[in-house]
Amino acid sequence: MNWRFAYAIGFHPWEDTDLPFARKISELFDREEKGHEPPYGLALDLGTGSGIWGIELAKRGWQVTGIDIVDKALQRAWDRVQKAGVDMRLLRGDVTALRAAGIGSGFRLVLDTGTFHDLNSAQREAMGREVSAVAARDATVLLLVWPKRRRPLIRGASRSEVEAAFPGWRVTDVEPSHFRLPKILDLLLKPDEHWYRLRRE
Ligand SMILES: C[S@@+](CC[C@H](N)C(=O)[O-])C[C@H]1O[C@@H](n2cnc3c(N)ncnc32)[C@H](O)[C@@H]1O
Repeated sequence: MNWRFAYAIGFHPWEDTDLPFARKISELFDREEKGHEPPYGLALDLGTGSGIWGIELAKRGWQVTGIDIVDKALQRAWDRVQKAGVDMRLLRGDVTALRAAGIGSGFRLVLDTGTFHDLNSAQREAMGREVSAVAARDATVLLLVWPKRRRPLIRGASRSEVEAAFPGWRVTDVEPSHFRLPKILDLLLKPDEHWYRLRRE
């Protein structure tokens, strides 16, 4: 996917999520917050795009940093953050070079709604290494992944590819996200998207 071009022409169907998707992501956040009181700690929104889910985490009481490589996406995120009146840090940088971007460390929750599964294998490995370096010991990683299959635009990833990119982490759950694209795109791209939850071994 050419993300820069997509934002330039206003193509971002991943932002048009519906209630079942929102309910599921909220359930996943609930799970990470259970037994704690806000503030919940540092959260990292990888490939934050327009900041939608990072802002949601900030509203819930996480101290959020969002990172993206596309300026237009970050501009949209900045506008959204202002509108929401939340405190969320936004950085321009690559998920494969988080430390070089000055992201910091100690993140208890690392969220990726759609970046990992379109990276190539060297980039995935780099992202896994960087996440391992900046995440807290008791961190949870939540990855949204389309299965690997021939389709236009998004590569997708298999479970073994997720595991290979995150050595030292264990997949604890794989659950449907209930994400649906607009009808034509859904038929064409067949997302069949799942949440992967990872914890350190
Ligand atoms: C499917 S979009 C998801 C955006 C946002 N998380 C959401 O759910 O609305 C994937 C995002 O990853 C960003 N991205 C892709 N490759 C990246 C990289 N190597 N480093 C940082 N961001 C990247 C894109 O610019 C895009 O905003």
